[in-house]
Amino acid sequence: MGFVASLGSLRKVRRRSSVTMASVSPAERTRVLEVKAESRTYPIIFGDGLLGDPANFSPYLPGDKVLVVTNETVGPLYLNKLRESLTATGKSIFTIELPDGEQYKSMEWLNAILDKCMDHKLDRKSSLVALGGGVVGDITGFAAACFVRGVPFVQVPTTLLAVVDSSVGGKTAVNHPKGKNMIGAFYQPRAVVVDTAVLSTLDDRQLAAGIAEIVKYGLIRDEPFFRWCEENMDGMIARDPATLLYAMERSCINKAEVVEADEREGGVRATLNLGHTFGHAIEASMGYGQWLHGEAVAAGMVMACEMSVRLGWLDESVTKRTEKLLARASLPIRPPPSMAIEEFMTYMSVDKKVESGVLKLILLKGLGEAVVTADFSKEVLYDTIMYYQHLFREKPEEYDNYLIHTS
Ligand SMILES: NC(=O)c1ccc[n+]([C@@H]2O[C@H](COP(=O)([O-])OP(=O)(O)OC[C@H]3O[C@@H](n4cnc5c(N)ncnc54)[C@H](O)[C@@H]3O)[C@@H](O)[C@H]2O)c1
Ligand SMILES: [Zn+2]
Repeated sequence: MGFVASLGSLRKVRRRSSVTMASVSPAERTRVLEVKAESRTYPIIFGDGLLGDPANFSPYLPGDKVLVVTNETVGPLYLNKLRESLTATGKSIFTIELPDGEQYKSMEWLNAILDKCMDHKLDRKSSLVALGGGVVGDITGFAAACFVRGVPFVQVPTTLLAVVDSSVGGKTAVNHPKGKNMIGAFYQPRAVVVDTAVLSTLDDRQLAAGIAEIVKYGLIRDEPFFRWCEENMDGMIARDPATLLYAMERSCINKAEVVEADEREGGVRATLNLGHTFGHAIEASMGYGQWLHGEAVAAGMVMACEMSVRLGWLDESVTKRTEKLLARASLPIRPPPSMAIEEFMTYMSVDKKVESGVLKLILLKGLGEAVVTADFSKEVLYDTIMYYQHLFREKPEEYDNYLIHTS
């Protein structure tokens, strides 16, 4: 394997040099970050064409049987290549293709995966591989956590969002009809294998949804990275390989550092949800799939900035910079004007950030300084939501280009 960096050394690079591309050399075919979570240490391996090399998988898949879980969109594109590699390791490879969509991250399809495990007589020594975006990653991880009380699994994320967020950190889940991600486990993978080549088939909207989560890391804890995003947004949108690789690595370093500090979300891990309480309300009220998760989070992050400004915690210029940056990726920076304040409040009150009836929000006390707090008056929250409704009525031009236009 090529370059191996512990997080410690990369941290030093980051702090010393702010952000430059100097740490990414085109000559290095494979780069590895280590996540040192309390329950497990594991690598995130980045490289172009990793699916085709059995050596990227065999150390992390003990036993002689492997079940690959994918979906009907990703399977036809990449399953054969992965299967060839895994077969070359001498193991028996089984596969299951799920339908494509968030609604299939369900108990029913979890059972279908477990049925496959039983049908093919997988046992404690067998492994699972998740080939797909966050939906496939979350359900496969949970199946791996459940089957015979836990088998090894490897994440092979194929969306930008899954690379920079869902595949790292060990949150696994399926949805309950009454709530998203309500049934799940903290269960870390043995490895995350990021074949950057697979991102080429991702459409622009999905790419932008991943960029929203990348910008999030800058806002919550990495101001130099925010500035780097401002300087490199054009490269990200144009899918420049070195730029995207750097953005992915830096995001994963941030995610890993947070997970290392707080694997089970007792505190700081919640800051990864900046904009998500507003965003989840938008996603749910518009109907899942209308606004992509990353799109709703983009508008939600702008709302969190606006509210932080109203609390006197954040300079208005940060909101403006965030809006400008997200808009460059064609992400929405306004909530849907059709959403009444009551709708926001209803959905926000069932969010997982409500503890014992108290709504906690992730807000900013500065660029790069997120806090989890219930220390705000409800009026400021109402005023923030109402502000956008006024804006829509009084300055519709402020809205025109900044929404998702759903049919
Ligand atoms: N576990 C976590 O910590 C965590 C964090 C964030 C999000 N999530 C979960 O992740 C899910 C969202 O993930 P997502 O945004 O990756 O959505 P997704 O898995 O639905 O993928 C988005 C779309 O892209 C398609 N696709 C995937 N890879 C592709 C490729 N290489 N080329 C072409 N098309 C491709 C998929 O089939 C799908 O249609 C949600 O369920 C969310 O709850 C989990
Ligand atoms: Zn998210």
